[in-house]
Amino acid sequence: MGRLEGKVALVTGARSGLGRVIAAGLAAEGAKVVAAGRRDLSPKETESYHPGIGTVELITQQGGTAVGTLCDVRNADEVEAMVRFTVETYGRLDIAVNNAGAFTSLKRIDEMEENDWDFTMNVNARGVFNCCQAEVRQFLKQKSGGSIINVSSVGGLVALPLETVYCASKAAIVNITRSVALDYAREGIRVNALAPNFALTGLTYNSYHNEERRKKIEDLTPMGRWMDVEEIIGPAVFLASDESSYITGITIPVDGGYTIK
Ligand SMILES: NC(=O)c1ccc[n+]([C@@H]2O[C@H](COP(=O)([O-])OP(=O)(O)OC[C@H]3O[C@@H](n4cnc5c(N)ncnc54)[C@H](O)[C@@H]3O)[C@@H](O)[C@H]2O)c1
Repeated sequence: MGRLEGKVALVTGARSGLGRVIAAGLAAEGAKVVAAGRRDLSPKETESYHPGIGTVELITQQGGTAVGTLCDVRNADEVEAMVRFTVETYGRLDIAVNNAGAFTSLKRIDEMEENDWDFTMNVNARGVFNCCQAEVRQFLKQKSGGSIINVSSVGGLVALPLETVYCASKAAIVNITRSVALDYAREGIRVNALAPNFALTGLTYNSYHNEERRKKIEDLTPMGRWMDVEEIIGPAVFLASDESSYITGITIPVDGGYTIK
């Protein structure tokens, strides 16, 4: 029996990259999964995790249960509708992985434009805020507690070159995580975050294929390599499951030692 049997999980940004891997990982442990994707997403898949097949189809083929839905996490009404859809489909919500995220491009602050701030903060910080709000409201209605997992980044814990706004948005996620965890700990709602290092996805495609940058990230990582996308599954399942029942408000670096120094 899987560690998440009988649980219902919602994953944002689940059509690609880490969200897709996490959705498949939760389903493999028995959770029924709602895989949410952004409205205007093209069906581009990552190079490294079952390319060429949609997330729901992938989970179904692997013997799991999943449905898809659309949601732009910047829009609070859409986020509320996504949570409602989850409850209408599977009867409840137990686990929410707020994974959707974006960044604009690598620049120093003197080259940035207003939109770099607005876009990145809206998707990453406001998106996680909107999701936590709607998910907590549902957990309170159920009176059942629940587990929220926000996806931050090593950039939420330390500075990354040329990523001022991305780092600010990911640091915001670390402290949204702590704050919401603090406010709802007595109601059995646990809120934690993951801070992954660089892994090959659509988000990092250009950096990965730039040899100098790829190598630089390898050199800065004590383990000397990028993260394999599958390496996010264990920490995500741990935070989702009752194995972490006394853990709330933390951010787990999944980073090959990147943030040690
Ligand atoms: N890949 C890495 O190296 C890395 C490292 C640290 C953190 N992260 C974080 O992991 C998460 C997943 O990123 P990824 O690397 O898998 O890249 P990705 O581009 O494959 O996935 C990001 C997903 O978020 C979705 N998304 C973007 N804007 C959205 C919006 N407004 N509403 C709903 N969905 C939206 C995208 O459509 C996409 O499916 C992000 O939060 C990212 O910041 C990634």
